[in-house]
Order: sequence, then structure tokens, then C-alpha cells
Amino acid sequence: MKRIHLLSPRLANQIAAGEVVERPANIIKELVENSLDAGAARIEIDVEQGGIKLLRIRDDGHGIPKDDLPLALSRHATSKISTLDDLEAVSSLGFRGEALASISSVSRLTMTSATAPEEGEAEQAWQVEVEGREMAASIKPAAHPKGTTLEVRDLFFNTPARRKFLRTEKTEFNHVDEYFKRLALSRYDVAFSLRHNQKVIHSLRPAIRNIDKEKRVAALLGPKFIDAALHIDAEAAGLELTGWVGLPTFSRSAADMQYFFVNGRVVRDRLVAHAIKQAYRDVLYHGRQPAFVLYLTVDPALVDVNVHPTKHEVRFRDGRLVHDYLFRTLHKALADVRPDHQSAPTSLQGSGVLAAETSGLTSPALMANSQQRVTGIQAGEFSEQTRMSLLPGRNPMTGQRLGQTNSPAGVQEHLNAYQALSQPLNVGANVVTTEERVDPETGEIVTVQVENNQPQESDIPPLGFAVAQLHGIYILSQNEHGLVVVDMHAAHERITYERLKIAVDHQNVQSQPLLVPITISVSEGEADAAEQFADEFERFGVLLQRASPESIMIRQIPVILQQAETERLVTDMLADLMQHGSSDRIQAHRNEILGNMACHGSVRANRKLTLPEMNGLLRDMEDTERSGQCNHGRPTWTQMSMSDLDKLFLRGR
Ligand SMILES: Nc1ncnc2c1ncn2[C@@H]1O[C@H](COP(=O)(O)OP(=O)(O)OP(=O)(O)O)[C@@H](O)[C@H]1O
Ligand SMILES: [Mg+2]
Repeated sequence: MKRIHLLSPRLANQIAAGEVVERPANIIKELVENSLDAGAARIEIDVEQGGIKLLRIRDDGHGIPKDDLPLALSRHATSKISTLDDLEAVSSLGFRGEALASISSVSRLTMTSATAPEEGEAEQAWQVEVEGREMAASIKPAAHPKGTTLEVRDLFFNTPARRKFLRTEKTEFNHVDEYFKRLALSRYDVAFSLRHNQKVIHSLRPAIRNIDKEKRVAALLGPKFIDAALHIDAEAAGLELTGWVGLPTFSRSAADMQYFFVNGRVVRDRLVAHAIKQAYRDVLYHGRQPAFVLYLTVDPALVDVNVHPTKHEVRFRDGRLVHDYLFRTLHKALADVRPDHQSAPTSLQGSGVLAAETSGLTSPALMANSQQRVTGIQAGEFSEQTRMSLLPGRNPMTGQRLGQTNSPAGVQEHLNAYQALSQPLNVGANVVTTEERVDPETGEIVTVQVENNQPQESDIPPLGFAVAQLHGIYILSQNEHGLVVVDMHAAHERITYERLKIAVDHQNVQSQPLLVPITISVSEGEADAAEQFADEFERFGVLLQRASPESIMIRQIPVILQQAETERLVTDMLADLMQHGSSDRIQAHRNEILGNMACHGSVRANRKLTLPEMNGLLRDMEDTERSGQCNHGRPTWTQMSMSDLDKLFLRGR
């Protein structure tokens, strides 16, 4: 029988190291966190051979007094907390008092530190390292400015089994780089640098202004992300959320660009992940991953960070509140992405600054929110034709089929509006027009009077006026900035989908009997299902009747889907409903079903649209939530500014 004995300090520390030190990257995290806790303004990291041979972290923090140095390397020794109360509202990154002890038990570690000299005293630095099973500390004088340098050499030299798990230098360095990104994204006010084998990989100055922060994000994650990101800055219920979320059109195949910080600490949390995923659910193509860098600030007392040795997980006291808050804030931010930048809340600012430096196309959101205005089209440059096209465009498609503009009412409206327009517009003159809108409360279409006393130039709507249609697929439109290209099917699909959602939500799907009911043949099982799901169909605005054992009659379909190929629409809906079975699941898949319906009801490619129809679509896009992407997350429109075009033609202005 073996007798019980105490483990030597080194062995105990080596066991503890198993939890937090898996590879060089983990050491970077621990040491940089210590530097941040020490109030450093500048942190320099040097790495050799992926960090296996050497890691050196140098900071200009407050340093460690000589007498405390041996303690810094021993287990359960910390300057950061002393009571349980401290632990329950911890505001430093470290608090366990074991990182340095663990690291020094599996590597050759030296720590050199100097505090600010007392008055009249000379500057003096000290160096500490530990040896043997007992990890006895030895101290000697050294030269070092105020701050601390940690050198970690030969990781796992004394634990060969663990050393075997290290990968190639390149792989290990990639991990180091990833951890570096997280740290550098966690504190913009601190300067960071990273060198690998003497080569500078990153060198980041402190960033205080938002534009500089965005530059840092671009330097770390690539300019594409920030170019296609929405800036978030929201606060409610004691929670604050800031940062950037990628537009759905900037989705990724892997979840590799997702950074979430809680009180400055990067965390991976299922609750958070779920809330974000849900916020994107409606706008992201299936299987795609959103990109984001988000910072949640909460009262430290409301979040428990002592859940996991690496502190990568947290527990919120009120998880539901946090979940709801995240979901709501992001859902709203994504819904507000639309061409009309006036309608975007002021808390959301586009990150247009960097975009101005890059050439090429600008993303919709950028243009939507960009402060910078490309001038070049003076008022009055708009041709008579484009003016004319403004007219009935105000309200097609609201219950009307696209393309029904030659109905008598349509023509009359067209003429009236044309007359109104052809009268000279005085600057400052009040022009009252009527507009049809979907009331978000009731889902009903309401007519509102819009008083317009803006000068003419700002009457150009965000998406401009259509000038032509390209190959029956794209609408070309001229706006203040230049050329807008719209994928008309994608745009119409989104609009129809959003309208259907509102209508179904308010149990107010306007449906219209077919003049001639359509009978379609189906299998007996399908006909049974059609009867079984009659209520569901009705909720979606479709009225069916069984005509025979193997046929059903379509009596009524939603008004906004009058365009659709009715037979296909109903058979597809039937397939959807049968697939989702019970009515709970139908509810859960409601949006998917509506999405499929919208797809059928939308203008097909290769359909010729008149200018008024095109303008109608543009105006509807401006009024519709999430109209920047189609239901599958593809963009619905893009902007080419005059300067983009000038660049194409090497035309200097
Ligand atoms: N770069 C540094 N500058 C100043 N003091 C430091 C530095 N690194 C470590 N220390 C001191 O050494 C102590 C031990 O550090 P260590 O990382 O082992 O534990 P901790 O940070 O307190 O807790 P944790 O194990 O959670 O990281 C710290 O509490 C701090 O007082
Ligand atoms: Mg620490």
C-alpha cells in the first residue's frame, strides 16, 4: 500500500499548469493580462520559434517591489484580491494567483521588475527565478526601467509528455497571433507590438478616437470586416454594448471572426452565442457565420468570472436579461440597415472612414450611414425622364400588382403627380404628397400626408431614380452619390417577405378570392394534409378546398402574391407544412415558409419593368427593414459613387 504524502511544490504547480498552459499562446494570454492589470500603457511581445523557444513580454506597468518578487512566482499568491467579497466583484483580469507559478514550473522563467523609485532613491531593478522541486526563489539585482519583463524559455523542457503535444512552429505561432488579436482588441488605450523571430508582425499605437479604433480592428482582422460593419453603441438596463457587427453580406463559412468581451475579458459563452445567432437568423444564409467584435459592460458583481481556470467562460447572474438585451440590440441594428440613412438611429454610425481610403465598391451600409458625401451631381442634372419617374413610384405594389400601372387609377395618379411636379418647385415651398405605408402596429396599409419643405436637391431619395433596367435583372438608378445597381428579384423578395411577416404577425394577411378557382391534382396524402393544415394555410392567406380524393381547389391567395404562379406556390407550401408537421414546428419555421412564399411572389428575372415600377421598388426598399439583403443574406443593391466611376476611367477631378 502506498502512503499518502504532500506533492512537491513543483509537481503541484505542474499539475495546475495542465489546466491553463497548453501551448505558448496561453502563456501570452496570462502574461499580457498581468501587464494590463499592472496598468501598462505599452506591451511588447517577442516570440521565437512559435513561442516554444522563447516568449518575452515587456511592460511599463507599476512593477513589483523587491520583497514581493519571490511571492509573485509562488502558488496562491496574488495582489489582486484578499477577501471573498473581492472575488465576487473582481475587476482585474487575474485573481487566482497561480499563473506565474504554473508557467515557471514547466519552463525556464525569469522575471525582472522595477517600481518607481522613492524620492531621493536611485532606480533599482531586481530579477527573480525559481529552482528545484521546492521552487525556491533567488533574487539578484538587474537593470530595468519601471515596469516588468517576463522571459519564458524552453516551454515543457521538463515535461516531455506535454512537449509532444506542441505542433509546428507555424501552428503555434498562429495560436499566439490569435491570442494577441484578442488581447489587442480588448484594450485600445494600450500600445501593443508583436515580433516573431525578430520580424515585426503587429505594431499598434494606442487608439482613443473611434476612427483609430477602427484602424486597429482593420489591422488585426483585415479592412474588409470593418468596411462591412455596423458600429454598435447601445446602453440599457445597466448593460452597455459597443463594437462592430459585420453586415450579413459579410458572413463567413467558419465562426472564426467572433470576438465577444465581457468587461474587457474575451469569453466564449453559449448564451451569448445563441443571442447573436438569433439576431442574425433572419438575414443570414443558412450555415453562414456572422463576424463581430463586441464589448459588453456589466456591473462586475453581476457576472461570475470564477467558473473556469482559463476564465474563458463566465456566468451571468441574470442570463435571461443579458440574452434579451443582446438579441434586441443586435436584431434592431441589423433591421435598421436600409438605404435611407436618415432612418438609422443615431447610435449607429457607419464605419465609413476607412472605406474612404479604399477604392472599389462601397457596401450598402457604408453608403447608408457614411458621413462623407460624394458630390458631383448638381441639382438639376437630373433629366426630365428621371423626374417623371418619381411619380406613381410612391405607391405601387401595395396591394397592387407590379405592372398594373396602366389601370385607369394608375394613369390618373401618374398624371396628377406629374402635374404637381412640373410646377416649379420653390426652395422652401411646402409640397404635400400622400404616401402609403404599412403601419407597423396593425400591419394595415395607411395613407399618410407627407409635408415636404426641403429644397429640391435633398428630394433625391437615397436610392435615387431609376434610369434603366439591365438584361431584365438589374435596375440602374442615379442618386446623389452616383450609380445604384439593384438586384430587382432579390430586393422584391425581401420586401414581400417583410410585408408577409408583418401581416402574418398581425393576423392580417390581405387575401383575395381568385376569379377562377384553380384545381390542382395532388396525391391523396397531400390532399389530406391540405385539409389538416387548413387553418395554417388560412393564416398565411390561402384558402383551399378539397375537390376530390386527389385534387384540391385554390380559392384565395394573399394579395401581395397575386403575381405568383399559384399552383407552385400552394404545392410548395404544402410540402413545407407537411415537412414541419405539428403546428408548433410550423410556428418555428414560419419565417422559412414565408421566405419561400415571398420567393414565389417576387418579380422574376427577365421581366421588363417600367420606370415607375422600378422607382416604386426603390421607394419600397427605402421603407423596408433589412432591405439591404435578400432573404438569403445576399446584397440587394450596391452603390458606385462618382469617384468610384472616375477611378474606373482614370478621371481626376
Ligand atoms: N507584469 C506585472 N507587473 C506587475 N505585477 C505583476 C506582473 N505580473 C505579475 N505580477 C504580480 O504577480 C502576482 C502573481 O501573478 P499571477 O499571474 O501568477 O497571478 P494573478 O494575476 O494574481 O492571478 P491569475 O492566476 O488569475 O493570473 C500578481 O498578483 C501581481 O501582483
Ligand atoms: Mg495573472
